[in-house]
Amino acid sequence: MIKLAAIQRHYASDEVETTALADINLHVAAGEFLAIMGPSGCGKSTLLNILGTVDRPSSGQYLFGDRDLARLDETALAKMRGETLGFVFQSFNLIDELTIQENIELGLAYRKAGAGDRRSRVAAAMDRVGISHRARHFPHQLSGGQQQRAAIARAIVGDPKLILADEPTGNLDTENGAQVMDILTSLNAEGATIIMVTHSPAHADIARRRIDMLDGRIVSSVDRAL
Ligand SMILES: Nc1ncnc2c1ncn2[C@@H]1O[C@H](COP(=O)(O)OP(=O)(O)O)[C@@H](O)[C@H]1O
Ligand SMILES: [Mg+2]
Repeated sequence: MIKLAAIQRHYASDEVETTALADINLHVAAGEFLAIMGPSGCGKSTLLNILGTVDRPSSGQYLFGDRDLARLDETALAKMRGETLGFVFQSFNLIDELTIQENIELGLAYRKAGAGDRRSRVAAAMDRVGISHRARHFPHQLSGGQQQRAAIARAIVGDPKLILADEPTGNLDTENGAQVMDILTSLNAEGATIIMVTHSPAHADIARRRIDMLDGRIVSSVDRAL
């Protein structure tokens, strides 16, 4: 599904150049559940942003299926993101002024779907994560765990092939973190490919493969024996 070859990402400022990704080579097969670990600043979020096409590499190749993403313009990338990807963040990133239901519907922004179809997709996504009873509430009226489940509903409402999660349990207590992991695990069992950054070794163990990063490189890749 995904092939990254010799990916580099440099950030230039007036005085210094930071190398966020030095040399990333990675294959991800459809249906995988991959965990990414590594110390703060090693490039995990940069890698996830590039995988999610919200950032472009300075050099190297990104193949998604049979498409070389460097050849796509912003419009084509936005369409591909909207149709194929779902994002989950550590800090939920819900919009405070919108209800939970409205936030989740944003996940359909790139879908051509009628009002009835939208409503039923949003209802199904809310049901999926157990948040239906909070549909008309605003994010600040929900607990962190509920907000993250709503954010997952927004990510999955368009039925994405690939879910990218950047420390999805980082702001949650143990119980809510476990709930989020259960949801991700069952989404993966149903066919979604998941790439998740985490600082939790226990959560990384739930994934089928774990890679460790250091200084913008992948330093190990471990398949969990099944
Ligand atoms: N927009 C940016 N401008 C400049 N440097 C950045 C930017 N984003 C990230 N970096 C730098 O790139 C490196 C990797 O960052 P990041 O991918 O966020 O790491 P991680 O998610 O593993 O903590 C860090 O040194 C960080 O300071
Ligand atoms: Mg990060």
